Amino acid sequence: MKKIAVFASGSGSNFQAIAVAAQAGTLNVDISLLVCDKPGAFAVDRAEMLGIAALVISPKSYPSKAAYEAEILQKLAELEVDMVVLAGYMRLIGPTLLQAYEGKIVNIHPSLLPAFPGKDAIGQALEAEVGKTGVTIHYVDEGMDTGPIIASEAVEIAPGETRESLQKKIQRIEHSLYPEVLEELLNGEEEAVQWEKSVH
Ligand code: GRF
Repeated sequence: MKKIAVFASGSGSNFQAIAVAAQAGTLNVDISLLVCDKPGAFAVDRAEMLGIAALVISPKSYPSKAAYEAEILQKLAELEVDMVVLAGYMRLIGPTLLQAYEGKIVNIHPSLLPAFPGKDAIGQALEAEVGKTGVTIHYVDEGMDTGPIIASEAVEIAPGETRESLQKKIQRIEHSLYPEVLEELLNGEEEAVQWEKSVH
């Protein structure tokens, strides 16, 4: 079975959705590690509840990003992790990890990329008053939410939509789409997966 490490900085609801799918057997993967750069983040509590090992590592304790990532990389190598899954990891991945895991780092973003990259994508979509937004899963490169797109799913922004209601809709999609896409990437037969889903 392939091994993944999930990187998260905050709540970790996507991390949990991936772990639950793995427990249910709809996603065949060994979640070897949670990497969290924010001591005290709820994702770490979830790891404990789920019985998944966590590496809580603060970049501030390292002289450089390269040194910080080298420490993570050592752990990933030790565990023979095949793929890195970013799920609310609020940091750009640097050359150290990118080179070691070339083409093997994926991310989920709460918009239809290339629209609304970066922070607060949900707020950006509401501010722009667009009719739809969504979720995108993509490979990670050195840019901010710029790597090749693997899958996306749209969601309508209803009249009177609030931030909370939109966030809920987006999260519901994220929690089913990410495990589904990971299963395809890790265990699917096709080499390149390109999915497009209809508006909900
Ligand atoms: C998700 O909306 C994800 O798309 C974005 O950050 C959020 C993380 O949420 N990259 P959670 O920590 O998984 O609950």
